Amino acid sequence: MKGIILAGGHGTRLHPITLGISKQLLSVHDKPMIYYPLSTLMLAGVTDIQIISSREDLGGFRRLLGDGSDLGLTLSYAEQDKPRGLADAFRISADHVGDDSAALILGDNLFHGPGFSSVLQESARDVDGCVLFGYPVSDPERYGVGETDGRGNLLSLAEKPAQPRSNLAITGLYFYDNDVVRLARDLQPGPRGELEITDINRIYLERGKARLVELGRGFVWLDTGTHDALTEAGQYVQILEHRQGVRIACIEEIAWRMGYIDRDACYRLGSRLSKSPYGQYVMEVAAGARDLEGAARP
Ligand code: DAU
Repeated sequence: MKGIILAGGHGTRLHPITLGISKQLLSVHDKPMIYYPLSTLMLAGVTDIQIISSREDLGGFRRLLGDGSDLGLTLSYAEQDKPRGLADAFRISADHVGDDSAALILGDNLFHGPGFSSVLQESARDVDGCVLFGYPVSDPERYGVGETDGRGNLLSLAEKPAQPRSNLAITGLYFYDNDVVRLARDLQPGPRGELEITDINRIYLERGKARLVELGRGFVWLDTGTHDALTEAGQYVQILEHRQGVRIACIEEIAWRMGYIDRDACYRLGSRLSKSPYGQYVMEVAAGARDLEGAARP
């Protein structure tokens, strides 16, 4: 499975912060926002990932993550010259996906919850159709909204409906079989003039090939599109990390635990950041100093 992180857009709701920097490079507590979606793909077992952003912002992502080899990943970069809609990702990344299945994640989506790695890995296996992830919210009219039969099948789908049929928001993580490349190529822009991911998902729904995995209570899905949401996401990460003494979305730790790099390589990555508590944490993890019985795993 190939991964895509869509990290473009103008971040207009975060102006003036995003006038000088890409939204997905802003900090969420102790790390850049893009670490969160990147770690989600890594936990799903996806290691070949393309990052899409605007021409002016791609340099920042490249400086931050390079070619990914330090993390045992293959990272590439592609330009979206203007925001044309989420489904545009599959036009831009058609060559990257090749004849593989694909996982798309929005660069501003943060997921965290118990057993998430297993859910991801199971859902990514032999994708036939599409797999969407639903999350109960109090304001579903702000999102794509899905209705499920309770057995993991999607029954209906609507983009930002005035009268939502359920409270299940469709999150910004999508798994597809290879057909998605052709579907995106042939897609007509929707009423907002954009290539809507919901229109792709609806085709899978009509084919009876759309699954909806429900992320239930106790799970956290945050987007970071407004000043308040960004602060709240940072606070959530801060509270959790202080209380438990672990770091979430620590890409070096995940790379090691997933077997993409060995302990020594992980330690070296930490030592490059050793002036920061984040770097010290990576060094401690790699050195086994945190291998306490019952130690939390990412
Ligand atoms: O966050 C989940 C929601 O994401 C889903 O529930 C909706 O079904 C889906 O349409 C999408 O809704 P949004 O209103 O959040 O989409 P937005 O246009 O704000 O784009 C989401 C992110 O993707 C944003 O950080 C900017 C980036 N983006 C967006 C577009 C349209 C791009 O990089 N390129 C684009 O062309």
